[in-house]
Amino acid sequence: MKKSKTKRFGVLTAGGDAPGLNPAIRAICKAGHFVYGMEIVGIKSGFKGLVEGHGNLLMPGDYSGIIHKGGTILGTSRERPFRDSIKVQNMLDNYKKWDLDCVVCMGGNGTQKRANWLREIGLNVIGIPKTIDNDVFGTDMTFGFHTALEVATDAVDRLHTTAESHKRILIAEIMGNSAGWLALYAGIGGGSDVIIIPEIPYDIDIVVKKLEARMEPPHGFAVIAVAEGAKTIDEAGYSDKKLKKIRAEQESAGYRLSKEIEKKMGEKPRVSVLGYVQRGGSPSGYDRVLATQFGTKAAELMAKGDYGKMVSVKGQEITSVPLEDVAEKTKRVPIDHLAIESAKLAGTCFGD
Ligand code: F6P
Repeated sequence: MKKSKTKRFGVLTAGGDAPGLNPAIRAICKAGHFVYGMEIVGIKSGFKGLVEGHGNLLMPGDYSGIIHKGGTILGTSRERPFRDSIKVQNMLDNYKKWDLDCVVCMGGNGTQKRANWLREIGLNVIGIPKTIDNDVFGTDMTFGFHTALEVATDAVDRLHTTAESHKRILIAEIMGNSAGWLALYAGIGGGSDVIIIPEIPYDIDIVVKKLEARMEPPHGFAVIAVAEGAKTIDEAGYSDKKLKKIRAEQESAGYRLSKEIEKKMGEKPRVSVLGYVQRGGSPSGYDRVLATQFGTKAAELMAKGDYGKMVSVKGQEITSVPLEDVAEKTKRVPIDHLAIESAKLAGTCFGD
């Protein structure tokens, strides 16, 4: 590809997909092209495309009519290019071959970390935070979270009616390995009796005490929202390495919890692992707006040559933060979060 005098940027989407990627691609491309007169290379399948040289110039028709679509028109992957020096060299070569002035990396924590490494090896980079987990450091919100929250809340609602009919305990296992934002919000939104998140290690006896009370009249049923990354108080003392090894041989959080409850209460709670439905589908109105704001902010930063930043939202302001300040950090739920305090006052048990 030969470049004219105009600026040219590459855009890639990496890591687990999230609703809002297409609105963000649309916004950065439209602002980049129509407002700032830039050319855009769409890089396929995240960092894999940057390593392998898979990408092509995007034309306005490519990024029109996609605001409502889930997934990502560019594709994504969990490629970890920095594990291999040849791949790193390939990324540098392709950046040069495509004659890029900047590469825009849309993704979660892993992507922002890699974007920062690309910056450290000399490339111009801009990060855009996305993930249903809402755990990217340096931004109040990531797009994808709101859509996933609607899906997960609806699922918890649905579990409520069947739990009530059968007088059962039902468990919704909600995505979020390092941070429990989604389980916390969907749990509160869906009126769960117990919410278990990685940030608050749980004591099974406290959980069981709450469930025993709920199984008495007038209720006789209970709903639990548990995050994928839930830990018991004993497990909280383990190193990450030890826990990872143990987890590799275990069932997922919902099933583990169900077994613990069965041991204490005699009856086995039913488990619904919400899984990838939380990540799929059309982005909510909120996520489309946030993604549009992030995309246009990234285009503005590029036009100014203000590289090495991740766009972010702080309060009502769309702003940016240095990539080096956010890379390799995780935004976990603070244990004194106001939503937790409110939920406790409204009767929810967190197992602590
Ligand atoms: O980061 C988003 C996320 O959906 C997490 O909530 C979940 O733990 C993980 O991705 C699942 O990853 P994969 O797509 O590799 O199965």
